[in-house]
Amino acid sequence: MLGGKKCLITAGPTWEAIDPVRGLTNHSSGKMGYAVAAAAVELGAKVTLISGPTCLPCPDGVERINVESAQQMYDAVHKQVSLADLFIAVAAVADYRPVDIAHNKIKKQDDSMTLTLEKTPDILASVGKLKINRPFTVGFAAETQNVLAYARSKLEAKQVDMIAANDVSQSGLGFGSDHNQLYLLTHDDTLDLGIGTKHSLAHAMLTEIAKHVHNA
Ligand code: PMT
Repeated sequence: MLGGKKCLITAGPTWEAIDPVRGLTNHSSGKMGYAVAAAAVELGAKVTLISGPTCLPCPDGVERINVESAQQMYDAVHKQVSLADLFIAVAAVADYRPVDIAHNKIKKQDDSMTLTLEKTPDILASVGKLKINRPFTVGFAAETQNVLAYARSKLEAKQVDMIAANDVSQSGLGFGSDHNQLYLLTHDDTLDLGIGTKHSLAHAMLTEIAKHVHNA
C-alpha cells in the first residue's frame, strides 16, 4: 500500500536541558510514533524514525536516528526531508527551552528561581512551509478540550495536509498508554477512527494517508 514510499516520522518527547542533570520534558513514551513506524514498514514503506529519548526498541526494518532536543530533532528532520514522500510528526516536542544551559549543576540558593525560556523551532510548520520537495505532511494534536476545533486550527496554522487529533483527557488513552482515540482531519473532511490500540490506529491512519499519497 505504501510500497516504495519513503516515510519520515518523529516520535517521543524532547529533552530541553537546564543544566547537566536537569531538563524540561513531557510524558510521551514514543509508543504512538513507534507504532506508526512499524505499521508503515508492514505496509511496504522505507521508514526513517527520528526519536527523542524513549526506552523502546527500534521496530524491525526501521532506520532510527536518536536525538534529544527540539533543535536536534529539527536539524535531523531537515537533513532527511527532501528525500521523503511522507512526513508524520508524532513527537511531543517542547514548545519552549531555557535560553541558557548552565555548564555545571545549578546549586540551590533562594526560595525561588526564575528560568527564562525561548520558543523552540516548530518542526512541523517548517516542513509545511517548504516550497520545494515538500512531502505529504501529517501532524498530531493532543488536546484535552475543544479537540476538533484546536486540531483544525493547527491544520491551517501549520499549513499541513492532515492532522491526527487525540483526545488525551480520558485516562487510559494517549500519553504512555497502549491505546488511543484518533480523528483524522484534512482540509475538507473529518474521519473518526475511534478508540483502538496504537498499532491498529496506526494501520488505519496510514491506510487513509496512502489514498492521498497515491493521488498526489
Ligand atoms: O508517545 P506516546 O506516549 O505514545 O503518546 C503519543 C502522543 C500523545 C504524544 C501523540 O499521539 C501526540 O499527540 N503527539 C503530538 C503531541 C502534541 O500535543 O503536539 P503539539 O500540539 O504540541 O504539536 C502539534 C504538532 O506540531 C505535532 O505534530 C508536533 O510533533 C509538532 N511540533 C510541535 C512543536 C514543535 N516545536 N515542533 C513540532 O514539530
